[in-house]
Amino acid sequence: MKTAFGIDIGGSGIKGAPVNLKTGSLIGKRYRIPTPEVSTPENVAATVKKIVDHFDPSPGIPVGVALPAPVIHGEVTWMANLHGDWVGTNVETLFRTYLGRDVTVVNDADAAGYGEAEYGAAKGIPGPILVTTLGTGIGSALVVNHELVPNTEFGHLTLPNGKEAEHWAASSVKEREGLSWEEWAARLEDVYSQFELLLNLDLIIVGGGISKDANNFLPLLKTRAPIVPATLKNSAGIIGAAALAARAARIRDLAEAQATATKKKKKR
Ligand code: BGC
Repeated sequence: MKTAFGIDIGGSGIKGAPVNLKTGSLIGKRYRIPTPEVSTPENVAATVKKIVDHFDPSPGIPVGVALPAPVIHGEVTWMANLHGDWVGTNVETLFRTYLGRDVTVVNDADAAGYGEAEYGAAKGIPGPILVTTLGTGIGSALVVNHELVPNTEFGHLTLPNGKEAEHWAASSVKEREGLSWEEWAARLEDVYSQFELLLNLDLIIVGGGISKDANNFLPLLKTRAPIVPATLKNSAGIIGAAALAARAARIRDLAEAQATATKKKKKR
C-alpha cells in the first residue's frame, strides 16, 4: 500500500489530504473546511464527505479519520470539545454511511502521535514517548516501540492547583485569556511536570497548530526529558490517521488470509 487518505477533525477546522505512506508526507495541498458551528455527528460527517469527495480517492485506498475524543471499538465514549451528541455514537458506522466505504476512526492525538513516531520527531526512538497536542484541548498519545497505548486522555488530568490540565493550559486558553508566552509557559510547566511525575518518558513532543511557534515557549520550559516540537506540524493528524487506516487494512487482510487458509485446510 503506497497511499492512504487522512482526515483530521478539530474544534475549528476539518482538513484532509492523500498521504504518501513511504515518506509520510501529504500528496498535494490539504483541503480545509471550518468545523460546522453546530458540530453534531451528522453535520461533521457531511463536511468530511465534502473533503473526501473533493479528492475522490479510489475504492482501494484506506481512509482514516481522526476525532478529538476517545474512540473505543468504534464508539465515542466522551466528547469535550464538539457537540454532546457524539457520545454513544458508533463513528465507524456513521462515516461508513456518509462515505459509502470502510473508515478507520481514531483519536486525533493518537493519530498525531503515530505520525510523529513513524515519520516525525520520534522516528527511530523506542520511547516511551509522549506526544501532546495543544489546541482547543490537550491531547495525548503514549508510544512505545511503534505501539500506541490508545486513547490516553492525560489532558483531563486534575493538576495540584485543582484545575483540569486542558482548561489551564490548552492553546485556546492562552488565546482566550490573552496570556503572554511567559505566563503560558508557566502553566504548561504545571502540566508537563505532572505528566513527567506519572510517566517516565524518554521524549516529549509538542504538536498542534501552535507548535509552529515553539521557539517562543519551549525554551522557557524545564522538563527532565527532552521536549521538542512536532516535525509534521499541523499535518501530523492527517498523516497519522492515514497511516493507522493503512495499518488496520493490513491487519484485516492478514486476518482474512488466515481465515481462508484455515477453511481450506479443514476441507482437505
Ligand atoms: C479530548 C481528547 C483529544 C484532545 C485534543 C480532549 O479534550 O478528550 O480525546 O485528543 O482534546 O483534541
